[in-house]
Amino acid sequence: MIEYREDPGVISAEKLVGGFFEGWPFPPSPELHLAHLRSAEVAVLAVNAETEHGRRIRDAIGGGALTCFTPLLEVLPEYRGRGIGQELVRRLLARIGDRYSIDLVCDPGLVPFYECLGGVPGTAMMWRNRDAVAR
Ligand SMILES: CC(C)(COP(=O)(O)OP(=O)(O)OC[C@H]1O[C@@H](n2cnc3c(N)ncnc32)[C@H](O)[C@@H]1OP(=O)(O)O)[C@@H](O)C(=O)NCCC(=O)NCCS
Repeated sequence: MIEYREDPGVISAEKLVGGFFEGWPFPPSPELHLAHLRSAEVAVLAVNAETEHGRRIRDAIGGGALTCFTPLLEVLPEYRGRGIGQELVRRLLARIGDRYSIDLVCDPGLVPFYECLGGVPGTAMMWRNRDAVAR
């Protein structure tokens, strides 16, 4: 059974081992992943209540009272296609959706996923230090 939680303090790094950061050349460690979640303004987790394993997370890094940036969303492969990803975004928007801007960056294939949730496509500029977590 999937439970949604909004306090990353309830999960430990060992529950974040394996499967996350699909396709990242230098995936962050579970400890860094947890530190990231705990420093986020809002982090919504979908947890398998039987194993307490984190299934995934939508997080928001606060940008102040007006704006918000939400960098990470991932549902582990075996849990995809059950509406968990959309529910994580809905719950995040319930918390910060009244800001002037809520921004994220995604691949073109995911535009329909976010359009279903009220998002509109735009153009982004970004800086990436892809090996930052391996330094
Ligand atoms: C994107 C992701 C979070 C979706 O999670 P999910 O739990 O499978 O999504 P849902 O079950 O809530 O999907 C709901 C809808 O979105 C669509 N959708 C899901 N993943 C999609 C994808 N990768 N591309 C396009 N559409 C997608 C589904 O087809 C479904 O539409 P339907 O209801 O019309 O069938 C998941 O595929 C994932 O973790 N991918 C790898 C990481 C990633 O790309 N994250 C996004 C970073 S911006």
